[in-house]
Amino acid sequence: MKRDPMKLFLWLLLLISDVLAFRTEKPFGGRAVELMKQAPLIDGHNDLPLRLRILYQNRLSKINLKILNTTRTNIQKLQSGHVGAQFWSVYVLCSAQNKDAVRLTLEQIDVVKRMCQIYPELELVNTSQGIADSKKIACLIGIEGGHSIDSSLATLRMYYDLGVRYMSLTHTCNTPWWVGWGSVHTPPYHTPIASPTCWPTTPSCTYPVKEGFGSQTLPAKNNGIVMVTFYTKVLACGREVVNVATVADHFDHIKKIVGSKSIGIGGDYDGVDQFPEGLEDVSKYPELIEELLRRGWTERELTGVLRENFLRVFKEVEKVRNDSRSMNENENEISQSEVQNSCRLDLRNPPLRTSDALPISFGSASVVQTWGLMFISVIYIILH
Ligand SMILES: *[C@@H]1O[C@H](CO)[C@@H](O)[C@H](O)[C@H]1NC(C)=O
Ligand SMILES: *[C@@H]1O[C@H](CO)[C@@H](O)[C@H](O)[C@H]1NC(C)=O
Ligand SMILES: *[C@@H]1O[C@H](CO)[C@@H](O)[C@H](O)[C@H]1NC(C)=O
Repeated sequence: MKRDPMKLFLWLLLLISDVLAFRTEKPFGGRAVELMKQAPLIDGHNDLPLRLRILYQNRLSKINLKILNTTRTNIQKLQSGHVGAQFWSVYVLCSAQNKDAVRLTLEQIDVVKRMCQIYPELELVNTSQGIADSKKIACLIGIEGGHSIDSSLATLRMYYDLGVRYMSLTHTCNTPWWVGWGSVHTPPYHTPIASPTCWPTTPSCTYPVKEGFGSQTLPAKNNGIVMVTFYTKVLACGREVVNVATVADHFDHIKKIVGSKSIGIGGDYDGVDQFPEGLEDVSKYPELIEELLRRGWTERELTGVLRENFLRVFKEVEKVRNDSRSMNENENEISQSEVQNSCRLDLRNPPLRTSDALPISFGSASVVQTWGLMFISVIYIILH
């Protein structure tokens, strides 16, 4: 068979250019995965527990979390996304404020704990060391919004005892204590997230970031961290198409302002409805890392973004906790009138007595009852 040398040459050229193209394009994807195997992601925010409540009333017996397909999160996807640790949000709606927010939050903590105990791929931890040591997907708990404590520092302390390791100060509702109590010292808590503040990306565009206390450069100054959410609406800035490149633009921008050492990821999967093209669920994190590698981010910077920056901040917080061990617990209370919760029992202390006589009344409920009884008796007497 006669071969056409020209054709053979062209064919070889094609093959070589293919191989070269493969060499120059592929490495980013491969390197992203390699990097994430070495430095699995610590993600700061996932709302799967909220979906479990909405869709399954927290009945874990009804579902298989390994392959659950009604949510953007399942165990297989977390594994393909190289997620090494996940802060599960125990969010309850703002409308529960002054109602049953505490009970609902406790139920969400319960479902996270059960979920992380049932599945052998998951493991509950509560320290930076626990994250570093875990060979599984480490589970941590974060509270989304200060309304969950019902204006009670004692409740906050008990959440800590249950393993909660951060609480954002507010969600979409103010709390009676945040404005007035801005200076309250709550050492055990990592509370980096305040109400959304605006962060200019271009002169014509702003977007909210989860960042404390309203200053853009604070995370750089205090060695803190901004954990970037993937919520499409927040990232869009008027753009029609929101994809991996859009998210990477935000990373580039934040890096310019606070440096790569103050950036982390808090995807907010299952917390909102829309996610960027290419980042639809928790298996897609490597796509972002690939894009950032392509843009010249170094592996060192990305190891920071994936986990080391967060671990640095968490260790710092743990150190503050350790150093505050000798402090007395804060026993301040928010006054009943500020809390505006009519369901609360107004428990008044009985006046101090020198005699052993029993106090007549312990609370307003019984006072109301007494007056009610008197009222009924008076009506009864009048009628007769
Ligand atoms: C989702 O999972 C259910 C139950 O495991 C299965 O019956 C269904 O076919 C799955 N749907 C899709 C779109 O994969
Ligand atoms: C923290 O985790 C350790 C083991 O991982 C456990 O023994 C301890 O009870 C946990 N503490 C809290 C407050 O959850
Ligand atoms: C805090 O104290 C605990 C217990 O004493 C210790 O294991 C841990 O290493 C300390 N952490 C820091 C960051 O100092």
